[in-house]
Amino acid sequence: MKSYGLLINGQWKTTNEMMDVIDKTNQDVYAKVSKADEGKVTMAVDAAEAAFQSEPTTPYERYEILMKVADLLKDRKEKFAQNITHEAGKPIKQARSEVERAVHTIQLSAEEAKRLTGEGVPVEAAPGSENRMAFTIRVPVGVVAAISPFNFPLNLVLHKIAPAIAAGNTVVLKPASATPTTAIKLAELFEEAGLPKGVLNVVTGKGSEIGKWLTNDERIQLFTFTGSAEVGLNIKQNTGMKKLVLELGNNSPVIIDHETDIKEAAANIAAKSYAYAGQVCISVQRVYVDQKIREEFEKELISAIADLNVGDPFDDETDVGPMISIEEAKRAEEWVNEAKEKGAKIVHGGTRKDNLFEPTVVTNVTQEMKVVCEEVFAPILSLIPYENLDECLKEVNQSKYGLQGGIFTNNINKAMKAARKMEVGGIMINDASQYRVDLMPYGGMKDSGWGKEGPKYSIQEMTEERLIVMNLK
Ligand code: SIN
Repeated sequence: MKSYGLLINGQWKTTNEMMDVIDKTNQDVYAKVSKADEGKVTMAVDAAEAAFQSEPTTPYERYEILMKVADLLKDRKEKFAQNITHEAGKPIKQARSEVERAVHTIQLSAEEAKRLTGEGVPVEAAPGSENRMAFTIRVPVGVVAAISPFNFPLNLVLHKIAPAIAAGNTVVLKPASATPTTAIKLAELFEEAGLPKGVLNVVTGKGSEIGKWLTNDERIQLFTFTGSAEVGLNIKQNTGMKKLVLELGNNSPVIIDHETDIKEAAANIAAKSYAYAGQVCISVQRVYVDQKIREEFEKELISAIADLNVGDPFDDETDVGPMISIEEAKRAEEWVNEAKEKGAKIVHGGTRKDNLFEPTVVTNVTQEMKVVCEEVFAPILSLIPYENLDECLKEVNQSKYGLQGGIFTNNINKAMKAARKMEVGGIMINDASQYRVDLMPYGGMKDSGWGKEGPKYSIQEMTEERLIVMNLK
């Protein structure tokens, strides 16, 4: 079994206390990672701060390093995919697709290193400023703390560290405790690609402790976090005037209008609600179906779910594998039981074996049930009938979250009404909420968070616009 250290100032340091990483495919101990104490976290910030203050790399050097990391990752695609399946339990075909997306995320970030542009500001047009010229440049913010989630242990790490590095920042990364080894192996690729020491530091350990030490460190200029709304709020309350990018909870709505291909919409919803056992921030959770087609849609949906392969994540055909832990699967089971006790009907699934939870469809739900109003983060969707689109949109917007949503309709007027009214960061027309390619702006409104990811947009967040005014003689 492998043991991993902390990456501090270009050196791997193991600690006396280690933490187990569980193999989600069989519950065995898969690896051990070091548990950072406060001293080690401070050393990681020291290293990041010193690297930021030292001779900076040029944008082209950063472009070359990032492109090299992308090439190394491409060469090791299968190894990374296998590692993701072991530590995250993600079905292997979805893990392979995550690695492909990750290569793209690095390449996009590398390209952005060459596009750190500002703009001309026509100050000479102001009375009394005739002899002046001005423009803006973008400057890196400094040390970035990146705290990443378990569900995309490679690509969501890269969405934080690759744009940060492309922009000229330095980073302290705290990967998710459930899936830290993918991030560690990724950091090894950055080392191999020649990233100067101290630019990327990796600390593993207890999330709440490391989070507290990082938020207490005045030298960190920006926090980029993906995780629960509760932790996001905690970071916000403890970081004063620091910059923040927060990707938090969600309970994605999708509307199925009667003017659509019902079978196609049902197959799409089945695929995009249950991929990675629903543990994706934009998994379809609330399906609002036009009363006129409710019965037919439910029948098609259940038939599409029956076509999904559920089980062994190492099987190439598997669509739905285990959840991240037995505790999380039990929590999902409790939420379904709570809904049942309050009058909901389980029309498909609802059962659990260890950390494997069957794809589940719940009907007769109310807004107060956790499976509807909270982020379910499990393979569970609620089917909710509606009669009138305006009323439906009001109900959709009762959610405290607003990351991404969708509407299936062939009617452009209904599509655009939903696009204008649905309170989300992104809306998919004739597609489910779970659509993401890595170049697009990604981020929510309300309790789903602040700021956008996607390399071009992250770099806007991770740099300051500085104005330069010349007083010409
Ligand atoms: C997330 O769970 O927020 C990420 C979704 C994705 O990148 O596809």
